[in-house]
Amino acid sequence: MGKIIINHNKTPLFDELKKHIDKKVIPFDVPGHKQSCGNTELLKLIPKSVLEADVNSRKSLDFICNPVSVIKEAQDLLADAYRADESFFMVNGTTQAVQAMIMSVVSEGDIIILPRNVHKSAINALILCGAKPHYMYPHFEKKYGMTVGVSLDNVKRAISEEPNAKAVLIINPTYYGVASEMKRIIEYAHEKGIKVLVDEAHGAHLPFHDELPECAMALGADMSAVSLHKTGGSLTQSSALLLNTNTISKNHVKKIVNLTQSTSASYLLMASLDLTRKFLVIEGREKLHKAIELARKARKKINQIEGLFAFSYKDFDRSGCFGFDETKLGINVTGIGLTGINAYDILRDEYNIQLEMGDSHNILAVISIGDTKNRVDQLVEALKDIAMTYKKEPLQLEFKTCNSTKVSYSPRDAFYSNKERVLLENSISRISGEFVMIYPPGIPILAPGELITEEIYNYITLLKTEKGAISGLEDIDVNYIYCIKEN
Ligand SMILES: Cc1ncc(COP(=O)(O)O)c(C=O)c1O
Repeated sequence: MGKIIINHNKTPLFDELKKHIDKKVIPFDVPGHKQSCGNTELLKLIPKSVLEADVNSRKSLDFICNPVSVIKEAQDLLADAYRADESFFMVNGTTQAVQAMIMSVVSEGDIIILPRNVHKSAINALILCGAKPHYMYPHFEKKYGMTVGVSLDNVKRAISEEPNAKAVLIINPTYYGVASEMKRIIEYAHEKGIKVLVDEAHGAHLPFHDELPECAMALGADMSAVSLHKTGGSLTQSSALLLNTNTISKNHVKKIVNLTQSTSASYLLMASLDLTRKFLVIEGREKLHKAIELARKARKKINQIEGLFAFSYKDFDRSGCFGFDETKLGINVTGIGLTGINAYDILRDEYNIQLEMGDSHNILAVISIGDTKNRVDQLVEALKDIAMTYKKEPLQLEFKTCNSTKVSYSPRDAFYSNKERVLLENSISRISGEFVMIYPPGIPILAPGELITEEIYNYITLLKTEKGAISGLEDIDVNYIYCIKEN
């Protein structure tokens, strides 16, 4: 049989949606805005042409919970673009994709190996399904105050500690662009009969340029969650779950996806996935080439500014960095005496520049297929100005953040246990009943069931002083934390 030729110029879902709009069908179904409904304020925000595309599912447009026609065709094309066998469109972000991925392979009492610098969605999946985490603590880069990628050694150690683990989850790449030792980890875990799940929330663009780290499905992972809305260019909240059907049952995953998938999935989001896949396959290489070049030039210029340091592959210890996504422009700002949170706020409030995130040591600018030289130049100029205006003695920060956590209860046991409200300053040595994190990155500083150490307390206090956007706690002022009741 000859090879099936896949035509990525096709946009089956978008085409059908367009046909539907052009037909001007009289709608006696929801959504109730009926493409305008006289809500003039809504029309100021969302033009009529967009409201016309905000329709509910019907036979010609297929149905997200059981796709058989145009959604299925669009999903097949997306799977091909990411070297996967199947894909599921997701309309509740990569949170939903990560949770469906985890719940597809582990359930009550099963063990899953995770790097501790996971996004909260992964730990929340364990609260939902009752599986237990066995954490890996990958290399910690002291000078940037961040945990980086996972090595084969990390995975080997974790598997020797928990040989009955059902799955291992890897982040590819991290928020700051650091890739793990993916290929060797996948081969080793598979030899041991363990599934490999990959959180590619920050890697939707990887398959489309050969100077970026390789994508998980091309390397043989079992499943991957890709945030097309983050670096791919589709609409916010649109994401995808990818799978290798030789090792994972598509029908099983479909049942799990349908536990949380809306029955009214937005066609705007889904059509944006269809159009974005075409765009990335056809034009991605050229656009990413430009983005990589912009990031390279910006790095060079930033590294000429005294006190600032824009890191890349060569600047990380080889035991935790096995590839690097140069479009993630991470800059260490402690050399000018500022925390990342501080610099992030200054850029927003005084220079009208919104970064992706700021943490204790660094700031992160995401350079994507949508960026222009002019904008990147403005960022570099603003950084020059900040380095002159704000320069103080370099900061010495000594936090290992989430790399120093100790788990006392599983996330689910902790989540459902009896808790009491404790003053934050009295909480050292208690077990947290809540998450504590800043978003982004959404990596828990504490997850339910973890010991509150002095170091973690000091880190939370620093974040409070710096006015970091702390979330997860019931007390929005972060004076109290719910801890597990002691017997
Ligand atoms: C590593 C990682 N995984 C998953 C997610 C969840 O993605 P979403 O915001 O699309 O739900 C994020 C979000 O920041 C993330 O950083």
